[in-house]
Amino acid sequence: MARWLVIAIGLLGLCWPIGCGDSKYDNYTLMRIVPHNTQHLEELARLHDDPEGVEILKRSHGLNDTTDVLVSPNKSVFLEELVAKSGMPVQYKYNYGRAFESVERVPRRRTMRGFNLYGFNSFDTITNYINELGTRAPDMVTVQNVGQSYNGRKMQLVKISTNPRGRNPVIFIDAGIHAREWVAPAMAMYLIHRLTNDPKARQRELNGVDWYILPVVNPDGYEFSRSGGSNRLWRKTRSKSSPNNCFGVDGNRNYGFKWGVSGVSNNPCDPETYAGSQPFSEVETQIVRNIMMENQQRLKLYVSLHSYGQYLVYPWGYTADVLPRDWKKLHNLARMVSDSVVRAGGRPFNVMSAGQWYPAAGGSDDFAFGVVGVPYSYTMELTDGYEFTFPDKLLRVVLPQFYDGFITFSAQIKREFGQS
Ligand code: ARG
Ligand code: ZN
Repeated sequence: MARWLVIAIGLLGLCWPIGCGDSKYDNYTLMRIVPHNTQHLEELARLHDDPEGVEILKRSHGLNDTTDVLVSPNKSVFLEELVAKSGMPVQYKYNYGRAFESVERVPRRRTMRGFNLYGFNSFDTITNYINELGTRAPDMVTVQNVGQSYNGRKMQLVKISTNPRGRNPVIFIDAGIHAREWVAPAMAMYLIHRLTNDPKARQRELNGVDWYILPVVNPDGYEFSRSGGSNRLWRKTRSKSSPNNCFGVDGNRNYGFKWGVSGVSNNPCDPETYAGSQPFSEVETQIVRNIMMENQQRLKLYVSLHSYGQYLVYPWGYTADVLPRDWKKLHNLARMVSDSVVRAGGRPFNVMSAGQWYPAAGGSDDFAFGVVGVPYSYTMELTDGYEFTFPDKLLRVVLPQFYDGFITFSAQIKREFGQS
């Protein structure tokens, strides 16, 4: 009896007061590794995620751009040796998870109940906001039920149009396929807000173009990363795989185009890039696929919102060796978007094909471009400098800057596909 008590108290001691799961990254180290020559780049390209405690948060796109790796204590020797041998400079952030405390972990009651435009809202709050908008502005906003997530959360597509019965070209934006990238759903919600509240938006962004927005593709993962006592840096879905009982698939490796050919793990327990048991094994990616297929004829621009790194990348993502025939159009529009963000006071995007950044197959951008035939398809990695824990205080600075990029996107879609 006494023995059990000691064990029980011992376990409590390990986990209290922050909860077992929450402390996972507390003694991890973030290593920001800087490649200075091509040999360095090759070495970093060979580096892989490891369930034992090597999580690659961001890959380098070339010389002097960091590869950011989150390392557990038992893997730190391995990585330190690797960088020491090759002489790559490294910046360290120790006890990485402890930095979460100040921003997210402290229980902070919202002063205002409900939706916060410049905040990281819960999935329920987002859902309520959307439904309210649908009833308040039914002539402009249609809310379509598109299915349920693995854990049964209702997913809703927001359709914004000043002429819903017309045959306008469609811009489709999704966000939050990766759970921890909170700034992406925040951007999607800001888009919805501006498109429906900015008096200038009607003429400029809306007349002649329809906007379809799915703000949280992976609500189960999103809520998991938000809940104290779990894992702030969760990326994948929350489906359970048998027989190993590990959770989750990387949704952005799960799409059915060149599935699995590069940049994936086939280990269900890999915390980062497990591609799933088969293409579209996840109900959430099926939902996005169905939205795309249903609107195939009118879909002219697809943007998948992610964070971080300030990239705007286009197909192909599965390879660095080939570019689409029309890659220059994709490239030029991305540059124009980046320029608009800069004019609004923001930072420029790194523009390139996703595969030139690093090859990874099964992404939604490649599927939209290669299978659905969407002429403009992008992945947008919002913000840089804060990894996945972008401070909510800065949202009111960056979201309006990014919005100007979307004005430019819609201007191009109108020019090229509008029925004047
Ligand atoms: N950070 C994104 C990811 O790893 C980039 C995806 C770019 N697209 C691609 N098809 N590789 O999922
Ligand atoms: Zn992502």
